[in-house]
Amino acid sequence: MFSPEGPSLRELAVQALSSVERGYDLLAPKFDHTPFRTPDSVLDAVGAALGRLGTFDQGLDLCCGTGAGAEVLTRVCRHGVTGVDFSAGMLAVARERVRSARPRVSWVRADARALPFAPAFDLVVSFGAFGHFLPRELPGLFTQVHSVLRPDGRFAFPVVAPPPPASRAYWMLLGFDAVMRVRNAVWRPPFVMYYRAFRLPDVRRELERAGFQVELHPLPEFGRRRDGSPRVRMVVARRLP
Ligand SMILES: C[S@@+](CC[C@H](N)C(=O)[O-])C[C@H]1O[C@@H](n2cnc3c(N)ncnc32)[C@H](O)[C@@H]1O
Repeated sequence: MFSPEGPSLRELAVQALSSVERGYDLLAPKFDHTPFRTPDSVLDAVGAALGRLGTFDQGLDLCCGTGAGAEVLTRVCRHGVTGVDFSAGMLAVARERVRSARPRVSWVRADARALPFAPAFDLVVSFGAFGHFLPRELPGLFTQVHSVLRPDGRFAFPVVAPPPPASRAYWMLLGFDAVMRVRNAVWRPPFVMYYRAFRLPDVRRELERAGFQVELHPLPEFGRRRDGSPRVRMVVARRLP
């Protein structure tokens, strides 16, 4: 499935019947050959947009997986980069893959809902992981990010505009989420992954409630939709002093 180096359909099924953490442990060796890894086009566009904001000292890649976002951080952070994820398997691949980066990258195994850090970072990024959190978990997640940022620090992540209702992509995402809901109603442990649950207006409101000031930066590399709205934006949430 996906590519010759990617997981087979059987492997994917076993992973989808596991918990999120265990599923990623199993997927880790082949993860970079799946479409679940954030594409380089998105990573590069976010890296360029972060570069336009300035340079940072300490960066954190939240739910770092195999380290795609941590590599982006090494381009814009001067002193250090940390990747945090709860899957030991994903961290092992990240450690091996992003070995010789400068500044050095540290890898920490922890749950994003209980981060083990002091307010030491001036930039936190996250790619491709918000579908693993239920809407009711967002306030806690954003409070955690707020607590590890220095005053005036930024939390940045890309958000893709939802596909219009008439499109194929719309029905595919709707179908995926429906299958996940059925799976989670009948099978334990749950595998939380919903594409349509992370909505920009709700996200913005919860970030503001957690003590952030929110800006939206269109990523010009991805153009605009027919109605003129950007296809992809970078959310930049600044921790108020
Ligand atoms: C789709 S992968 C994205 C990985 C990487 N950020 C990327 O863009 O390629 C989602 C990652 O989120 C991690 N994850 C999901 N829920 C988490 C949680 N509560 N705490 C820490 N990591 C979590 C998974 O282990 C997995 O590595």
